[in-house]
Amino acid sequence: MPRVTFLPMNKTVEVAAGTTLLEAAHEHGITLEGACEGSLACSTCHVIVGKEWYGRLAPAEEDEEDMLDRAFGLTPTSRLGCQLQITKELDGIEVTIPDYSVNISVDKKGGKP
Ligand code: FES
Repeated sequence: MPRVTFLPMNKTVEVAAGTTLLEAAHEHGITLEGACEGSLACSTCHVIVGKEWYGRLAPAEEDEEDMLDRAFGLTPTSRLGCQLQITKELDGIEVTIPDYSVNISVDKKGGKP
């Protein structure tokens, strides 16, 4: 089964091919929001794909691109976790879960979400 490493927690998990990154995270207790449960109505599942892996991904559809534009801290290798299916060709992929999403911000003074 393909392996996925989630950063910054540096947790590597094995997932069935065809599983989305969002599903993989939730199956293994990794915190990755998915407020709309994969219906492309939020950007809370934003992940940053390792540069060496980004070019191997199927290109984002226009709907994903539109929603990505709303993601907090967008980067050139950003994707939505609910839209990325893991294939055997992606065995070993590394993705970073950003510190913030559009639904969560941390009050630095009080430390409260
Ligand atoms: Fe809402 Fe991915 S979970 S767009």
